Amino acid sequence: MANLILVTGGTGTVGRVVVAHLLDAGRQVRVLSRGRRRTGPAQHVTGDVRTGEGLAEAVAGVDTIVHCVDPAQRVVQAALRAGSPHLVYISIVGVDRVPLGYYRRKLADERLICESGLPATVLRSTQFHDLIAAMLRLLAKPPVMMVPAGWSYQPVDVREVGAALSSLALGKPGGRVPDLAGPEVRTVEDLAGSYLDAVGMRRPILSVPLPGRVCRAYHAGGHLAPGRAIGTIGFEQYLGEQLAAGTLPYDDAIRDYTGRRPSKRTHPH
Ligand SMILES: NC(=O)c1ccc[n+]([C@@H]2O[C@H](COP(=O)([O-])OP(=O)(O)OC[C@H]3O[C@@H](n4cnc5c(N)ncnc54)[C@H](OP(=O)(O)O)[C@@H]3O)[C@@H](O)[C@H]2O)c1
Repeated sequence: MANLILVTGGTGTVGRVVVAHLLDAGRQVRVLSRGRRRTGPAQHVTGDVRTGEGLAEAVAGVDTIVHCVDPAQRVVQAALRAGSPHLVYISIVGVDRVPLGYYRRKLADERLICESGLPATVLRSTQFHDLIAAMLRLLAKPPVMMVPAGWSYQPVDVREVGAALSSLALGKPGGRVPDLAGPEVRTVEDLAGSYLDAVGMRRPILSVPLPGRVCRAYHAGGHLAPGRAIGTIGFEQYLGEQLAAGTLPYDDAIRDYTGRRPSKRTHPH
């Protein structure tokens, strides 16, 4: 039985769900993030997986690491020095099919983890509802909502991804495990319509064909896993719950894809 589990990025969108599940399961949890040291039922270590700062302290004495942030190299090195705990990594469906720089780096991290000699488990999921909502929020800003023609998404609820990761963390190392995808493959036009309805906006939706290899790969559905539609919480349910709770889709979720961190969080309309 895992005694102490480190969740890197444990204050993030999926990381905090993992932390909550592990605490519910009665495990001791340590969180690593760059933000201010927090108090609560989980221990918090301030550190940075890019520079390695705080990693030795974070991995000391842990049986398992759930790695919910990128990159992985310094975490792997620290884990090897700290007695080789089980490393559980969250990756993305299609990192081997969509030639996006971010996906290439995640694929390289998957390989690094699986070949490191650490006991490892890698779960790929499709895009979280949060990311799709954040993307649609940006696309809905101009008077005409332009969306990429012919693209679909299969968004999944982060509660289901977090539950899957925590259960993998409590189990035996499985290597690359079957992908986790949302309940439905939906065209981006369809998702955009649902978003506009949910937030009470009216916009004409214009489908624009996009050129290039990355766009062709999205068009071909390289990021989808229709055979692994395990998630049960759909996009409309997610939107309804977010709006009812006053918790909003936020711009930060897109920063990994654009390389930019928007300066502030605002209401979607
Ligand atoms: N979003 C999606 O649709 C999706 C889909 C499939 C897989 N994934 C994968 O899931 C993972 C987590 O995504 P997410 O959307 O949950 O991320 P997120 O909400 O942006 O959270 C990132 C977390 O990592 C921490 N963090 C960021 N940079 C760090 C660094 N250099 N060192 C230490 N901690 C750092 C953040 O806190 P601080 O800022 O305070 O450090 C935060 O706790 C990523 O690996 C992503 O590729 C995401």
